[in-house]
Amino acid sequence: MRLPDAEFNPRFYLAMAFNFDSCPERRGSDSTKWHKYASQDIIPCWIADMDFMSPPEVVAAVQQRAAHGVYGYPAQREAVLTAVVNHVRARHGWEIKPEWITFMCSLVPGIHATIRCASQPGESVVTTTPVYPPFLTAPVISERNPIKLSMVFVDGRWTFDWEKLEAACAQDQTKVLLLCSPYNPLARVFDRAELERLAALVLKYNLKVCSDEIHCDLILDPKVKHTVFATLSPEIASQTVTLMAASKTFNVAGLTCGFAIIPDATLRMKFRRILQGLSLDQNVFGLVATQAALEHGEPWRQACIEYLRGNLDLIEAALKRMPGVVLRQRPQASFLAWLDVSALGFENPHAEFEKGGIGFSNGDDFGGTGHVRLNFGCPRERLQEILRRMEVVVNRAPRR
Ligand SMILES: Cc1ncc(COP(=O)(O)O)c(C=O)c1O
Repeated sequence: MRLPDAEFNPRFYLAMAFNFDSCPERRGSDSTKWHKYASQDIIPCWIADMDFMSPPEVVAAVQQRAAHGVYGYPAQREAVLTAVVNHVRARHGWEIKPEWITFMCSLVPGIHATIRCASQPGESVVTTTPVYPPFLTAPVISERNPIKLSMVFVDGRWTFDWEKLEAACAQDQTKVLLLCSPYNPLARVFDRAELERLAALVLKYNLKVCSDEIHCDLILDPKVKHTVFATLSPEIASQTVTLMAASKTFNVAGLTCGFAIIPDATLRMKFRRILQGLSLDQNVFGLVATQAALEHGEPWRQACIEYLRGNLDLIEAALKRMPGVVLRQRPQASFLAWLDVSALGFENPHAEFEKGGIGFSNGDDFGGTGHVRLNFGCPRERLQEILRRMEVVVNRAPRR
């Protein structure tokens, strides 16, 4: 089914027959998320994939490829590169060249590769916390020194601690800045002024940037717009490795396919050399799904965003009944909510919620003790049950 490339029009899309309320059973389906609690009455809402079926066009493309029956080494067809170029232009206003794109089997190796091609062992990598755990582990695995700076909540929003950030960037040993934009787990979409301020630091101190923008196509807040960091200026583009994928937006993470966009030829060559033989081989299904999602997934994406907004409304309403659980800022992107549960007084809140039948991500893994992360990319009825169980746990907390 090919739909007109209409501009955002929720009513039109919502009228379409995407049923996010009803999802296939995932227990017993080789799902990391569901396998963890396979034999327990715990609803998993941790690792970042959604319980929804992918867009029908993606399912059809994968089925068609599967029906071919020959799964030899894939060639990267021009069509998938063109799909990326067109998508990045249409959605983000960035004119990229196909040769800037490097496909990978996942984005995490791209974080490691950027660190390795832009710094030496012993040099420093700046990252902020709480953050997607590989941002914390990648520098250490590569024997770099991680400089971890807490994000701060100022004037109703999460942002950078600019003074500390500049001090970290100014150190001689600092070579790389890891940027998560939109930000997992705080779900912030940084505005242009914040990114420009960051860009000024990057240029002043000659840093390379790994800009992980995997969540950039799931912007929930209609008042904000995602700016691709590399679009700020040609100078910034040449200092930056941008990481993107169809995986989060279209729920195809299991097909293991992401891509880096690196305009600077030298940086790109170093990046590819590090990953050669490690992560550059792709999976036929990942490429097919990426192309189908980017070419035809727009109506589904719009409908999914609407559904996630509805889920978020439900969470906000339910949290009013849960003193001691704080969602500081309504998530602007993704399907992840960062909850401060420290006021409940539990020694190990994650374990307490597990006992209550809810499998959150543990804030400790993100550098955020006293927090849990709720993945609300699930049918509303399931979310209602999660929230109901949460309330029970909250009601028996030592301090409420
Ligand atoms: C910011 C961020 N980067 C990367 C990933 C993982 O991407 P991949 O599965 O392609 O390695 C995630 C998954 O949650 C993420 O949130």
